[in-house]
Amino acid sequence: MTAGPRDEQISFRPMTRDDLPRLQEWIAAPHVAEWWGDDASETVEGVQAKYAERADGAGTVSPWVMEIEGRPVGFVQWYRVEGEREWYPDLDIPPGTVAIDVAIGDPDYVGKGHGRRLVLEFVHHVLRTTVPDCPEVWIDPDPRNERAIRAYRAAGFIDTGIDLPDLDHPNQVRRLMKLTWAGPTFR
Ligand SMILES: CC(C)(COP(=O)(O)OP(=O)(O)OC[C@H]1O[C@@H](n2cnc3c(N)ncnc32)[C@H](O)[C@@H]1OP(=O)(O)O)[C@@H](O)C(=O)NCCC(=O)NCCS
Repeated sequence: MTAGPRDEQISFRPMTRDDLPRLQEWIAAPHVAEWWGDDASETVEGVQAKYAERADGAGTVSPWVMEIEGRPVGFVQWYRVEGEREWYPDLDIPPGTVAIDVAIGDPDYVGKGHGRRLVLEFVHHVLRTTVPDCPEVWIDPDPRNERAIRAYRAAGFIDTGIDLPDLDHPNQVRRLMKLTWAGPTFR
């Protein structure tokens, strides 16, 4: 019997500088570039400049590599929303709220149900141990990115209907989705 997404082992490890060439390939892949919209990260130099410090554990953004059955397939990064307040104008930000960005870089692993598991397992296995005081997790896909919105909804995120400005792309917005800490578990 072939292993399906539910059977395959998902794991996470902190990103290191050795991952940066791989990260550049992921960000440049058409299915990611379409939604990532980060011009600075399209070149090797751009990725080095933006992610080398993060990969060293310095700075406020924490990048992780996602592996399926030991194979690196994508990445997820988390940061405190309060530190990026200009990206979340006019919102009450519960202290300690964390936001995540996600990309499955290997196109063979997209649209097969891995995304919802990756998000869910990252929240419960990494965030709950790394930032246990975090009351909510936010994610903000482009509202046209139906695949992402459906995957996050399936993982338990609520679509708030709130569209936030995209400071890098003035003609675009980001849809705020939230997972709320309700005591013993996220909901
Ligand atoms: C967003 C992402 C993490 C989602 O992971 P995934 O494994 O592809 O998602 P899943 O397979 O778990 O779920 C996809 C959902 O979208 C649907 N879907 C798949 N391809 C789609 C498409 N091209 N258009 C619209 N919906 C699509 C699926 O049917 C499923 O919805 P359903 O369960 O309601 O039927 C992944 O696609 C990705 O990394 N994409 C590239 C980068 C990106 O967009 N990042 C998001 C930045 S916020």
